[in-house]
Amino acid sequence: MLSAAHMGGTELQFVQEVFETNWVAPAGPMISRFEGDLSALTGIAHIAALSSGTAALHLALRLSGLEAGDEVWGSTMTFMGGVAPILYMNATPVFLDIEDAHFLLDLDLLEEELGIANLAGRLPKVVITTDLYGHVVDTKRMRSLADRYGFVWISDAAEAVGSYRDGWHAGRGADFAVLSFNGNKIITTSGGGALASDDGAAIERAKFLATQAREPAVHYEHNTYGYNYRLSGICAAVGVGQLQVIEDRVMARRAIHDLYRTGLSGMPGVTFSPEPAGMRSNRWLTTIRIDAERAGFDREDARRALEAEDIESRPFWKPMHMQPLFAATRAVGGAVAERAFEMGLCLPSGSALTHQQIEQVVDVLGRLAN
Ligand SMILES: Cc1ncc(COP(=O)(O)O)c(C=O)c1O
Repeated sequence: MLSAAHMGGTELQFVQEVFETNWVAPAGPMISRFEGDLSALTGIAHIAALSSGTAALHLALRLSGLEAGDEVWGSTMTFMGGVAPILYMNATPVFLDIEDAHFLLDLDLLEEELGIANLAGRLPKVVITTDLYGHVVDTKRMRSLADRYGFVWISDAAEAVGSYRDGWHAGRGADFAVLSFNGNKIITTSGGGALASDDGAAIERAKFLATQAREPAVHYEHNTYGYNYRLSGICAAVGVGQLQVIEDRVMARRAIHDLYRTGLSGMPGVTFSPEPAGMRSNRWLTTIRIDAERAGFDREDARRALEAEDIESRPFWKPMHMQPLFAATRAVGGAVAERAFEMGLCLPSGSALTHQQIEQVVDVLGRLAN
């Protein structure tokens, strides 16, 4: 598998605790504990534990005061869960190209487009950055753009739990950060997510909206509608256990990345994404780019050769502007993302993989090269 769940050993003990105290429902002390632990990890003051990262993004957009037709700008190379909530809100997505090194929203392009939009008086209400594959966007620059142009900055750090930029955890500094604990992520609650913000009132509101917007009354009273988006106590218990091993998991994924790098170092046309000064990626997925002309094989040759050995790999996330769903949606640039999609392959990266399994992947690719 590309990225299998990897339990640490203490999760069951915390699950046992919620059983014994009967706090299995989406309420109770285990959820508060998980939120507190997440706050300690991320350095973000307030957290709402939720049923998914997608739910977290939906709530962040709702809390941003979006109205139907408002523009939400974001990277074209992302996963659908980081985009679909824009459609739930009847807002208008605009997809911008990525930079070539880390596949993150191209901030030069963003700045240029914001300047143009500002002159035209049509600035976006929200900009979403996506910390793809565990790489982290330039936090300081994004914060200053958000302050200058007055948009709400949502950091989609679903893939970047345990990643840092300039000493700050992914998502810190944004107005809202989205985290995911889906089964394939670096740590998991089986399924789950969280919304993080330094704005305590916003997170209180998120918790309210996540529990069907029930006003304080003995009967069910509603001034607005909400969602059923809270995390269960059982899942929070798994998360509390998983957070105890987050640093081990990051180290394991980084070690796997280094093994691939060493193993494939002599292979012409195969390149890895660098880690600039100040970024510590969790290397959630190790990605390679294959230049078919230099390598003598392309991304699909590699994927199929691995598949023939029962090894799962996956092309880069297909850019949103190339998706049939978004055929009529505005895109700014996109050639960099198209090329990354054509060349990019995500290798098996789960923290429980053995050296032998990594070597097997290296061998299969090595055979293709010869
Ligand atoms: C970039 C990105 N955004 C959002 C999500 C959605 O998270 P979830 O699966 O927890 O809904 C994911 C992953 O699943 C993701 O990779």
